[in-house]
Amino acid sequence: MGENALSALGELESERLLVVADPFFVKSGAVQKVLDAAKSTQSRVFDKVEPDPTVMLAAEGAAAVKDFNPDVLVALGGGSAIDCAKAMAYFGGSGAYFVAIPTTSGSGSEVTDFAILTHNSVKHPLVDEKLRPDMAILEDAFLKALPPGLVADAGMDVLAHALEALVAKNANPITDALARDAFCTVFAALPASFAGHQEVRLKIHAASCMAGMAFTQAGLGICHALAHVLGGMYHVPHGRLNGILLPAVIECNAEACREKYARLAREAGLGGSADTIAVRNLKNGIIRLRKELKLPATLQQAGIQPGQIWRDTPRIVAAALEDDCCKTNPAEIADFMLRKILDEVTGNG
Ligand SMILES: NC(=O)c1ccc[n+]([C@@H]2O[C@H](COP(=O)([O-])OP(=O)(O)OC[C@H]3O[C@@H](n4cnc5c(N)ncnc54)[C@H](O)[C@@H]3O)[C@@H](O)[C@H]2O)c1
Ligand SMILES: [Fe+2]
Repeated sequence: MGENALSALGELESERLLVVADPFFVKSGAVQKVLDAAKSTQSRVFDKVEPDPTVMLAAEGAAAVKDFNPDVLVALGGGSAIDCAKAMAYFGGSGAYFVAIPTTSGSGSEVTDFAILTHNSVKHPLVDEKLRPDMAILEDAFLKALPPGLVADAGMDVLAHALEALVAKNANPITDALARDAFCTVFAALPASFAGHQEVRLKIHAASCMAGMAFTQAGLGICHALAHVLGGMYHVPHGRLNGILLPAVIECNAEACREKYARLAREAGLGGSADTIAVRNLKNGIIRLRKELKLPATLQQAGIQPGQIWRDTPRIVAAALEDDCCKTNPAEIADFMLRKILDEVTGNG
């Protein structure tokens, strides 16, 4: 990680390099920087990545992988580009050395066993350790032009990863340490990054990676289960949905993991001598931060009409219960709990 971390690509001595990139980075010249750093004999660029990649796109990409048979595959972009590349390599049967270069500080996909693909408006988390990249490069140069809206959305995703991993069923002391540090770093530094202070961005980038390491081992929870379903159905950015859902999820899980939430609140500087007060401070702290980052507080503010949510509620609840992230949620999930969360985040109508 750091300035010119990209130079690590030169050490791979690739002969056939495939770069899977968000089209934004072809235009910005970043793909060229990757090609220059890798000094590969032959190279190709797959630049059809779109936000929330579909199964169809992954299939098209998998055919491109089979056709070119790369020895090194580099994914450059946010979670969407990295997930698309992971699925391309997986379904293309590629044994290529896989390098992920995240350009957002959010998904943590550069270190996780997850790839999220959308099919028929449902986001499916695929989980397999074969999906985990061989190398992650956290390059400072790609964080300079991050727009504030993306800093905010992706930052909320990191907070959700850290918070859900901390209390997930498969958590252990090592994932706890990663999750706590990631949460506290991002909680403190996001306003500065949002305001354009570039000097904090690498720190947030590392925290995003740490939160990824935490959740790929510990698991996630109902915040992500619901965000996957709502994102697939209404196409609201993933991190923005997590920001809307997190306070209601804290409330829902509080009984099952009050002590861990309370300790985190104190470590993040939110105080509270009694655990119940500390948990309330954690919830309110996220609500305050969300406001400071100019993020929506309800689904209605994010552009989804309450009538639509009310009509779709049975479908949303059924799909969220099917999502694997529910399995590691600290509290056992029943359908009425998801309805209650939806009620809290829908908006006034
Ligand atoms: N695999 C995992 O472990 C995992 C975990 C969480 C989320 N996800 C998935 O990741 C996706 C979200 O990823 P994301 O939040 O990184 O966003 P993204 O990859 O969907 O990108 C969002 C937008 O930001 C632009 N962008 C990316 N980097 C930029 C930069 N440096 N400067 C300017 N613009 C830039 C892209 O062109 C795109 O339009 C969702 O599909 C989500 O489900 C995956
Ligand atoms: Fe996420």
